[in-house]
Amino acid sequence: MKLAISGASGKTGYRIAEEALAEGHEIKLITRKSSELPTTIRDQERFALELDNEKGLDTALDSCDALLIATGARPSIDLTGPARIDALGVKSQIASCKRVGVKRIVLVSSLCAGRWQHPLNLFGLILIWKRVGERSLEESGLDWTVIRPGGLSEKEDNLSNEGILFTGQDKQEDATIPRRLVARCCIEALRTPNSIGRIIEVTSNSELDPVTMKDAIAGFS
Ligand SMILES: NC(=O)c1ccc[n+]([C@@H]2O[C@H](COP(=O)([O-])OP(=O)(O)OC[C@H]3O[C@@H](n4cnc5c(N)ncnc54)[C@H](OP(=O)(O)O)[C@@H]3O)[C@@H](O)[C@H]2O)c1
Repeated sequence: MKLAISGASGKTGYRIAEEALAEGHEIKLITRKSSELPTTIRDQERFALELDNEKGLDTALDSCDALLIATGARPSIDLTGPARIDALGVKSQIASCKRVGVKRIVLVSSLCAGRWQHPLNLFGLILIWKRVGERSLEESGLDWTVIRPGGLSEKEDNLSNEGILFTGQDKQEDATIPRRLVARCCIEALRTPNSIGRIIEVTSNSELDPVTMKDAIAGFS
């Protein structure tokens, strides 16, 4: 597939790009002008733009089979970030997909999206704005999947011993998952038709047996 990956300079985004390449996909990276990419993906096709640049987004997404969204407001004293990036930024990416005919979107959101009473909301009501972004996708008419990870870690070793707990919406509250595994979940969603139209929560730990996303979803109540 030809995949666009937005937020490709982020710690989850660049891993999504690496995992996509490892599975033989062609990739286009969407970043800001100031974004820095790791060397592993620096030679890939890149589109540097702001998320409100409709023409730029349309050009980047043209001829892609799917968009993987890993943009997210970085912690900052600017409390408008979550509204601008996690809600409006996601909306503008969805709108561009509709204009240019990209039908498949996978969005990295967060456990507890939509919850008002949560300490993370001290940063610009981020969980509320993430839910607004998710809802735009739900209402888009596109083939979408939302991946909601728990707390993200940089762990890269012994991941083959780490099982993933996949659940439906609002079933998990805490626990963590390495960004590498979130990236793999995003790519796995693309080859898992029963992930379409679903919010899937993911955390991991070494005591869980490995399970495919497809089988896990089949067991959702
Ligand atoms: N941290 C956690 O424990 C946690 C838990 C659950 C979910 N999440 C969510 O998971 C996703 C990935 O998290 P992460 O920590 O891997 O991400 P990250 O490293 O913070 O990367 C964020 C990405 O979004 C981009 N971005 C930020 N502001 C932007 C803007 N105004 N316009 C365009 N792009 C912008 C960044 O670009 P630059 O490189 O240019 O800044 C970067 O590529 C985020 O949505 C995050 O909220 C995080």
